[in-house]
Amino acid sequence: MKKKFYITTPIYYPSADAHIGHAYCTTICDVIVRSKRKRGFETYFLTGTDEHGEKIQKNAAKVNKTPQQFVDEISDKFKELWKAMRISNDDFIRTTEERHTTVVQKIFSKLYENGDIYLGDYEGWYCTPCESFWTETQVGLERLCPDCHRPVHVAKEETYFFKTNKYLPDLLEYMDSHPNFVTPISRKNEMMNTFIKPGLTDLCISRTSFDWGIPIKENPRHVIYVWMDALTNYITALGYGSSDDSLFQKFWADENSEIVHVVGADISRFHIIYWPMFLKGLGLRFPDRVFVHGLLDLNGEKMSKSRGNVVSPFPLIERYGVDAVRWFLAREFSFGADGRFTPELFVERVNLDLANNIGNLVNRTLTMIEKYFDGTVPSHGKNMRDLDKNMQDLLVKTVDEYELLMDDLKVSEALALAMNLLGEANKFIEVSEPWTLFKNGDIEGLENTMATLANVIINGTMLLECALVESAPKIYAQFGLTNDECTFDKVRDFNHVAHHHVHKDAPLFPRLKKEDEINFIASIAK
Ligand code: MSP
Repeated sequence: MKKKFYITTPIYYPSADAHIGHAYCTTICDVIVRSKRKRGFETYFLTGTDEHGEKIQKNAAKVNKTPQQFVDEISDKFKELWKAMRISNDDFIRTTEERHTTVVQKIFSKLYENGDIYLGDYEGWYCTPCESFWTETQVGLERLCPDCHRPVHVAKEETYFFKTNKYLPDLLEYMDSHPNFVTPISRKNEMMNTFIKPGLTDLCISRTSFDWGIPIKENPRHVIYVWMDALTNYITALGYGSSDDSLFQKFWADENSEIVHVVGADISRFHIIYWPMFLKGLGLRFPDRVFVHGLLDLNGEKMSKSRGNVVSPFPLIERYGVDAVRWFLAREFSFGADGRFTPELFVERVNLDLANNIGNLVNRTLTMIEKYFDGTVPSHGKNMRDLDKNMQDLLVKTVDEYELLMDDLKVSEALALAMNLLGEANKFIEVSEPWTLFKNGDIEGLENTMATLANVIINGTMLLECALVESAPKIYAQFGLTNDECTFDKVRDFNHVAHHHVHKDAPLFPRLKKEDEINFIASIAK
């Protein structure tokens, strides 16, 4: 298994404020990378903003700002949101930064010198919001953009092209020999059927009709078309082509580093087809995985600011705490499938997992340890009962499966498994009946019961810490442990919480009143 891990979110367009759909992708990446870090992988996590292009130039003009002022403000808001969501990115790249723009120019020159790029004329159906040209077949008789389904218009322009067919055999060979390159597999098939089999056209990589972009050194009338500019962020942020490329050497060039791009379905084409081709042209290796997640809608409708149905994560974080929002996003939706955000689902998920399951379990266990053992966690006696051994087996099995699922980027499934372990611990209380053991004076039975519960709670929490960043340390502290004492090498240990002194705090996740909260969440959709 590769021990280094590089994960990226797409870089977001700072054309409007971030919404829950953007937060979804970033949260998933954060949960994955935190779980890897916890397990001892050396990781690097990148996010950022994609700041050039016609759309941004137009949006800035509408509000009488320069494009730079405009992107500065929105980019800051993205940074604020990631801070509020406790996103643990190592870097935040902005495509207007010099460390990016100068290297993109070099990349263009290198590909040009290779003969991968030529100057020609482009005439075709153009979608302004997507900044993409489409073929006759793709726009169909209705003349709609196949990506966003908005009307397209005819446009002609002198432009540089990237020769896609030059590297197509390499891409196809890589896809065949790396079945995990694209997940879910349906996305790979979609690429084959929609774009590759009908015949790939060369990719337009420069524009002359607007100037908010990186000028091409060889011909400054042209700016580099936004996708070549955008995709290369994944290597410019690591210092590729600069005087210090140590991060690039460590996390990209080294075959021992796993490279994972997480992207939404709407931009999978660029990551699956063109990005590997650019890399091939530069003589660089392909990413290990492109993970394509589904899109979230709101109550069944596409989220869109103009329709007034966008949910900002800020009011949710303020009212329910960051862990509730992170948990909902990471746990609710099966990764890869489209998802529906509804106020009901949010409230139900938070109550079911956080209030009723983990919150309740922690609270009951602490109360009993205080009552029966004066607040000191007992250790398992010599004679663990079958009941305890079964919980120990379940813990070990859960950790094993959790690691496999996380490695396979199945975040929701991995978290569900860990939460299920805590659900089983709640059932274990009912079956063990500690109150009867106490009444009967069965001290050994009571010690085993409390030791089992304390260890399952702490070890289960270690699995959930990647999502519950604020509550996990609070749970450790209530059992008298510091974060440093809860390292992953102890996660299968069934006796390490013994002798610690507990102190119960306020409940971690108060139960939400369904109707009130549904009304609140519905009221913040704008
Ligand atoms: N700038 C490009 C990406 C360049 S990456 C080299 C872009 N930006 S975006 O802001 O429009 O979208 C960024 C990501 O957010 C995409 O992966 C997109 O799928 C995701 N999402 C935008 N709305 C979303 C939902 N409603 N649900 C889930 N993800 C969503 O495309």
